[in-house]
Amino acid sequence: MRRTVIAGNWKMNMTPSQTAAFIKELAPCVAGKDACDIVLCVPYVDIATAVEAAKGTNIKIGAENVHFEEKGAYTGEVSCAMLKEIGAEYVIIGHSERRQYFGETDTTVNLRTKAALAAGFKAIVCLGEVKDERLAGITDEIVSMQTKLDLAGISAEDLKNVIIAYEPVWAIGTGLTATPEQADETCGVIRKTIADLYGDEAAEAITIQYGGSMNDKNAAELLAKVNVDGGLIGGASLKVDAFTAIVDAANA
Ligand code: PGA
Repeated sequence: MRRTVIAGNWKMNMTPSQTAAFIKELAPCVAGKDACDIVLCVPYVDIATAVEAAKGTNIKIGAENVHFEEKGAYTGEVSCAMLKEIGAEYVIIGHSERRQYFGETDTTVNLRTKAALAAGFKAIVCLGEVKDERLAGITDEIVSMQTKLDLAGISAEDLKNVIIAYEPVWAIGTGLTATPEQADETCGVIRKTIADLYGDEAAEAITIQYGGSMNDKNAAELLAKVNVDGGLIGGASLKVDAFTAIVDAANA
């Protein structure tokens, strides 16, 4: 019953003109492939162009972050109202690069998630262990704790607009992928945590993506796992062929 969501995370790539060209090329390749939701999360400056280019297609557009305050003296930040007005529907929150390079914590991730949900976005909340945590055997504790902190105070009703992206930090942009078994197991731990917090029905309904070097070669076996409900895709979302192949794997 839960939706598979294939979402691209473009990170700091693509200009507006490249965005328009990419979506024009992608749209016919993924037309009618409706067994999954298809989302592109793009840099702020590309969003308006992306929304325009995606009109009339089955591609949805999202941002890569959002600030939690409504407005004010927060130089360099972007608000929910700004993103709403230009047509973004999704927002990635708490990506490991934000946590690693820009000081995001579970506290700010929680604030941003609450603001995004209150504004009516679908929030793709990212979490996952770093390499040392996996090696120390504490992955389950880490993802469970992050799930609890990131979702603190979020109602069961609002949870319906949350997607979790499980992204082991050691697998992002490294070419290393979690094995399908590791991905399934850890997504399962997150689902169990959701069950403890919100009950079994909510846990069964929530979409939990895997992210971390998912590509056209490995997508099918990752997506075949019962607890893996899609992917958050970085590098491979910048290539029409590779991204289309991942959408195809989700529609097989
Ligand atoms: P990657 O990025 O697919 O390039 O590893 C995934 C992500 O950071 O969301």
